[in-house]
Amino acid sequence: MNITIVGTGYVGLGTAIMLAYLGYRVTGLDTDLQKIERLRAGDLPIYEPGLDELLRQAQGNLTWTTSYEESIPKADIIFICVGTPALPSGQPNLTYLESAARSVARNLDGKTQIIVNKSTVPIGTADWMTRILEEHAVHYHTNRYDIVSNPEFLREGTALSDSLYPDRIVLGGRPWAVARLHELYAPLIEQSFTPPPHVPRPSGYTRPAVVNTTLTSAEMIKYAANAFLALKISYANEMAGLCECVGADIEEVTGGIGLDARIGTRFLAAGAGWGGSCFGKDTSALVSTGEEYGYDMPILRAAIDVNRRQRTLVIEKLQRHLRLLKGKRVAVLGMAFKPNTDDLRDAPAHDFIARLASLGASVVAYDPVAMPRARQEWGHLQYSEARSASAALAGADAVIIATEWDEFRLLDWDAAVLTMRTRVVIDARNLLRMPLSVAATVEQIGKDAGPAP
Ligand code: UGA
Repeated sequence: MNITIVGTGYVGLGTAIMLAYLGYRVTGLDTDLQKIERLRAGDLPIYEPGLDELLRQAQGNLTWTTSYEESIPKADIIFICVGTPALPSGQPNLTYLESAARSVARNLDGKTQIIVNKSTVPIGTADWMTRILEEHAVHYHTNRYDIVSNPEFLREGTALSDSLYPDRIVLGGRPWAVARLHELYAPLIEQSFTPPPHVPRPSGYTRPAVVNTTLTSAEMIKYAANAFLALKISYANEMAGLCECVGADIEEVTGGIGLDARIGTRFLAAGAGWGGSCFGKDTSALVSTGEEYGYDMPILRAAIDVNRRQRTLVIEKLQRHLRLLKGKRVAVLGMAFKPNTDDLRDAPAHDFIARLASLGASVVAYDPVAMPRARQEWGHLQYSEARSASAALAGADAVIIATEWDEFRLLDWDAAVLTMRTRVVIDARNLLRMPLSVAATVEQIGKDAGPAP
């Protein structure tokens, strides 16, 4: 089977390289020539642990192009993995999707071809895309072209393991088209491939569940899954606030409730709240889909509010200890929205830096991986870069831990805190093992504040 993947972002690249590793001939298509040239040179435009190694192993099956004319006619299956970023209204921007769908349609060649939606698309998109196909495909015939909704559930940072050993594969569409996808995914469904040595099969893992649904249910599953995970996090953060009021410890509480199998311990880590390109966009999109039908979604609206409030609470914690921020030097550790990625989209650190700078603080930031990307994308923010976490802390009045990179866990905190001017640590990811041996004011989320200096 010949595969073309349209869009080489996190999802598109991960899918392209994974399918090439499974032995398919894959063409990755992107209209961004610079990206394609980097990929042709074997250089990944994103940071994802282990992906460079898998790219080396799968290189022989991969071709990169900017041309729809060249890649679509020969493809049996076409994956659409373009971005659908949120508009200021909260609704997803479908411009890239529309233009990709049109370009695909114009180049379909009349043989049996399947278009797979892997991007997180608004509910009803498959119907809308069918109309685009009807309008723009030269050889349109409903028995020959079909759309399948196959939402992606991978997480950045663990994308390889999530794609090779998924919990489930959701396939929405008509039976004949879904059957083709079963064929394509057979090595994953049967786990018949040899695991790459650097991404071993997790112990206890057997095989994914395959969920066959209608197109619309598949689209809905993606949103409902992300929204539920976002709810869990906001729930933990709301409980964390109450823990601080009554003097309980959120980690003890979530550990205790998580032992109930109906609740589970995962995705209950209180902290700076969720960020990234998905949860904010998808929760807002669901709320606005509800609005289109006059259907209110108060639980989701509250989850979004709690998440927004969480970022403000972090700065308020700092203000309680430092009072005036004007002229104070504040270190921000971690810029990526979570560890093991260089993705800066909707990162809490962005809002921390912006707020601190607006309050007159001088901000020095450090991230193990995301600083080069921040230079390109955060030019509008006022901050300077530090060479290392300990360099960021030297002479600082306070530090905010915004992302829980392992590198920060391994830092000699006692030594680093001693180099600070005043020793205020706001651990917005509950990363520190308390107490420190040196006197410092340490505030975590959902816990009692540490001893005063
Ligand atoms: C999320 C979903 O987890 C994936 O299943 C989904 O495929 C993806 O969105 C998507 O729609 O493309 P991702 O955004 O990569 O994946 O990251 P997560 O690991 O889910 O983390 C999201 C945010 O929640 C991060 O900012 C993280 O720090 C935060 N988080 C996560 C918490 O604050 N507490 C937790 O317990 C877990």
